[in-house]
Amino acid sequence: MAIGVGGCCAVLLAAALLFSSPATTYAYDSLDPNGNITIKWDVMQWTPDGYAAVVTLSNYQQFRHIQPPGWQLGWTWQQKEVIWSMYGAQAIEQGDCSMSKEGSNVPHSCKKHPTVVDLLPGTPIDLQIANCCKAGSLSAFSQDPANSAASFQIIVGHSGNSNETVRVPKNFSLMAPGRMHLICNPSFTALADGPGSLFSSALHTCAQ
Ligand SMILES: *[C@@H]1O[C@H](CO)[C@@H](O)[C@H](O)[C@H]1NC(C)=O
Ligand SMILES: *[C@@H]1O[C@H](CO)[C@@H](O)[C@H](O)[C@H]1NC(C)=O
Ligand SMILES: *[C@@H]1O[C@H](CO)[C@@H](O)[C@H](O)[C@H]1NC(C)=O
Repeated sequence: MAIGVGGCCAVLLAAALLFSSPATTYAYDSLDPNGNITIKWDVMQWTPDGYAAVVTLSNYQQFRHIQPPGWQLGWTWQQKEVIWSMYGAQAIEQGDCSMSKEGSNVPHSCKKHPTVVDLLPGTPIDLQIANCCKAGSLSAFSQDPANSAASFQIIVGHSGNSNETVRVPKNFSLMAPGRMHLICNPSFTALADGPGSLFSSALHTCAQ
C-alpha cells in the first residue's frame, strides 16, 4: 500500500509543479530529471603566482529559475591556492590569511572550501565583469536563455602558473533557495577549449 500512496503523491506533486508559478524553485523536479546547471572554469591568463579565470554558471534546468538571494557556489582547492581578488562575485568568508599575505597584499579569501555568492546589479563598475552581478538569479534556459547564465572572474594565487602546475578545483557544489543542493561532477577538461581560454576549460555538471 505504501507504494500506492507514494505513486499518488508523486503525481500530485508533478501536477503542483506544472501549475504553480514557474518562478518557484524545487529541490527535485520529476518533470525534469536531467535538469542541470553547468560550471565552466576557463583559465584566461597567467599571473606571477597563478592565473585569472572566468567562471560561468548556466542553468539548463527546464523550469527551475534561481531567484535572489540566489546561488552559492562552493569548491575544494587541490593545492594551497588563495583568491587574491574577485570581480562579479565574492567569497562569503575570508578565512585565515595570516600565512598568505604578501606585504600589504591580503588575499580576498584563503579558505580551503570557499563559498562564493553573486553581487547585486548596482555593484561599482570596477568590481564587475561582463554578464555578472544578477543578485544570484539564473533563469531556466528553456524559458529565458538571455538570463540563464552568469559569470565572475577570479584571480587565483599560489597555484603555479603553467599548465603543468595548475589544478582546477574539485568538489563543486551549488546551493540555491528552495533547498536546492546540487553536486557537480567533471564532464570534461580540455586544453585551451573556450574562446580566449589560454589553458584549460573545465566543465562541471551539477545535478541532484
Ligand atoms: C544537462 O541538461 C541538458 C538540458 O536539459 C541536457 O541536454 C543534458 O543532457 C544534461 N546533462 C547531463 C550531464 O545530465
Ligand atoms: C603545456 O603547454 C605547452 C605549451 O603551451 C605544451 O607544449 C604542453 O604540451 C602542455 N602540457 C600539458 C601537460 O598539457
Ligand atoms: C567537499 O566540500 C565540502 C564543503 O564544501 C567539504 O566539507 C568536504 O570536506 C569536501 N570534500 C572533499 C573530499 O574535499
